[in-house]
Amino acid sequence: MTPSERLNQLPDGVFQELAIAAHERRKKGLDVIDLSVGSPDLPPPPHAVETLIRAAQDPGDYRYAITALPEFHEAVARFYERYDVTLAPEREVLQLAGSQDGLSHLALTFLNPGDLALIPDPGYPIYDAGVRLAGARVEPIPVDAETLQPRFDAIPPEVWRQAKLMILNFPSNPTAAIATRDTLERAVALAKQHDLLLVHDFAYSELVFDGVQPISILSIPGAKEVAIEFNSLSKTYNLAGARIAYAVGRPDALAALRKLKSHIDFGVFLPVQRAAIAALTTPWDGYERQRAVYAERRDALCAALAEAGWPVRKPAATMFLWAQTPGGQPSYPFALALLKETGVAVTPGIAFGPRGEGHVRMAFVHDIPVLMEAARRIGAWLRQQNG
Ligand SMILES: Cc1ncc(COP(=O)(O)O)c(C=O)c1O
Repeated sequence: MTPSERLNQLPDGVFQELAIAAHERRKKGLDVIDLSVGSPDLPPPPHAVETLIRAAQDPGDYRYAITALPEFHEAVARFYERYDVTLAPEREVLQLAGSQDGLSHLALTFLNPGDLALIPDPGYPIYDAGVRLAGARVEPIPVDAETLQPRFDAIPPEVWRQAKLMILNFPSNPTAAIATRDTLERAVALAKQHDLLLVHDFAYSELVFDGVQPISILSIPGAKEVAIEFNSLSKTYNLAGARIAYAVGRPDALAALRKLKSHIDFGVFLPVQRAAIAALTTPWDGYERQRAVYAERRDALCAALAEAGWPVRKPAATMFLWAQTPGGQPSYPFALALLKETGVAVTPGIAFGPRGEGHVRMAFVHDIPVLMEAARRIGAWLRQQNG
């Protein structure tokens, strides 16, 4: 059996090699502090869990869902009012089984083999993988190392002419940057000028700190003519394992994605849809509370790492620290050695694209004492390395 050329284009998961190293440690009876995966550790809203339990007891909810409940579209439209965006529920909202579902099928929906897509470098890996799986070409949008904004001016005119799709992601995984309004306005203008579909991944829209206001791309005037935005219940409501998300924006683009998906899946488990509706529509004090929890962890981890001799930039959003490796060491050997020697798992920046090299990403998805223990081990190891 030979896997397809399509599959062979994808890198062998860096994550998998790290997982093997973590497994080896655990087999020896040693622990692992896992900062490598952005999987929220906070609880979902209680009203979402209660709704899920009730619905799961109804035998009628085990049929194929096929499509979204209309109330889900309405709930998303109401939720989006917080971003100053008005949505027509039926035409401008598409339910997804996780935004990964939508992002992985995006290129198959819009790109022919040989077509060109612009994606951020560094960027979340599915953007690159999705484009390659569709047989299309990837052109990186370099991310400025200082401002962490995309450098549109570094893209040559012939690339703009060929591009059919551009993906942006703010707040960003892995850099944790938030978009300036200017970045989003320029993106919309460029999408119009070059007739391309603009895709904004807004999965971390609610994980913003220090009073920052998250900006939906659809709040930029004219964006709905060129853009769709992905958002998710995974991080906002800690429902990552439940697999429910949505795309909003340009109706014909959503209709195309809906058509592809109608051939691929049979919809999201109805109790999960009902839990999502409850999450989106019930007043909840958890938004502010969890921002405060993440901000406190961020501050504690940054302070402890600085103390340990590894100062890192304080992120304005997300659940990630994006840190230059000490002395600019290559990220993969650094992450592997760190895991083997200290049991602290981080993600090597190279997993996010060539410009991620020399960085690692740490997810603060543990309580502060666990993060302090991670920083303590890192500090001891760095001191040992420096002799
Ligand atoms: C930037 C970004 N987009 C999308 C996703 C996928 O989220 P979902 O759980 O909705 O598939 C993630 C998950 O970590 C992410 O970091």
